Amino acid sequence: MQVDAKGRIGWIGPYEPLASRCADEPLEDLRPLWILPGMVDLHVHLPQHEAVAMDGLELLPWLETFIFPAEARFADADVARRAAVRFFRGLLYRGTTTAVIYTTVHEAATDAAFREAERVGIRAVIGKVMMDRHAPTSLQEDTVASLAQSEALCQTWHGRDHGRLLYAFTPRFAPTCSAELMRGVGVLAEKYGAYVQTHLSENLQELDWVKALFPEAGSYTDVYRRMGMLGPRTLLAHGIHLDPHERTLIRESGATIVHCPRSNAFLKSGIMPLRRWLEEGLCLGLGTDVGAGPSLSMWAEAAFACTASKLRWSENQHLADRLQRMELLGEAQRAEVLRALALSAGVPVDPVHAFHLATLGGARALGLEDRIGSLATGKEADFVVVDPRSVDPAESRGGEPPERTLSRMLYREHPGMVRATYIRGRRCFAADS
Ligand code: GUN
Ligand code: FE
Repeated sequence: MQVDAKGRIGWIGPYEPLASRCADEPLEDLRPLWILPGMVDLHVHLPQHEAVAMDGLELLPWLETFIFPAEARFADADVARRAAVRFFRGLLYRGTTTAVIYTTVHEAATDAAFREAERVGIRAVIGKVMMDRHAPTSLQEDTVASLAQSEALCQTWHGRDHGRLLYAFTPRFAPTCSAELMRGVGVLAEKYGAYVQTHLSENLQELDWVKALFPEAGSYTDVYRRMGMLGPRTLLAHGIHLDPHERTLIRESGATIVHCPRSNAFLKSGIMPLRRWLEEGLCLGLGTDVGAGPSLSMWAEAAFACTASKLRWSENQHLADRLQRMELLGEAQRAEVLRALALSAGVPVDPVHAFHLATLGGARALGLEDRIGSLATGKEADFVVVDPRSVDPAESRGGEPPERTLSRMLYREHPGMVRATYIRGRRCFAADS
């Protein structure tokens, strides 16, 4: 690969022809390492990085017990600054070149996150969390102040460094946001061409709560639609329990569902029907959702997306098989029940597809597919250098199909695998230094 002075890919291909092309230019021979596009994490919480793996509870009590107290500590700007340093180091170390990030409700903590992202060179979409009801007193905001602070941050940071840093208005989720706040978000995001990120349909108690809070809405998704929050720059985390009408609303709006399978398993939220959502044409990407997800590794997240897809598929096969054997239903009724329960889903998602979701899929979700997400001439040089030998018990085997090597990189990823992480051609992390 050849990278120009602006950090764009000038040429991409095998080493040999490049060596003769670049006789007078500095050239690094990385073989047998691989160069791959950097990972795009579409959903991660900076303040939760150090509150991971607090097991035992479902979403709402987990937030109350572990997460809100951790986020409250970010009122102290020093705490926030130090945590940001560790967080971005962690992302680069795992080969993530673009991350879409929630901070806390604190303006200074959000500013500190942007400053650190600016310093280390990562590509990031960041937003200050907004909560103006049903939050602990220490984290609950005034509606007008929340909108004003978010707008100020957006004005300062959205588009910084030729679009490397971007802003996402971040109403946490419908239960902690008033209609006025969410409507304000819709207006501001439109005004600045910024992103909107929130959570949607993750947990059954959450669904009941939203129904009680917004009885006039047709569904959870319809709440966000009514508030003007759905559009092509909207990222909806989870989206596990969506009815067909909600899926149509999301598809037609161009919004993205961010699949966070490790988080969904950890909080016992459910298994998203990934294959089905893909077949229906929904726009999808992957997120680690740290701290409900256990680590910043998108390799492991992509692998778990395959695992979850396989578990769902095999459980469905068993259920469908049992249903087929039941005498009490007639042929037509059995077929109807199978369809209604979506028990005859297609094949599970494989590692190549999951890797695609973790890279180009994420770039598409952000509308940045012409700039990042794959290695192609003219795109910005966001890439990772990985050592395939580090995840291979046989150490090195030449000539095997590359998808087998990629599969090992996802399922067996470990900290030494990523040797270096580059964004716009600038080396932001190197394992050896
Ligand atoms: N829903 C609202 N807030 C959160 C959060 O911090 N994590 C997850 N997983 N779901 C949420
Ligand atoms: Fe989340």
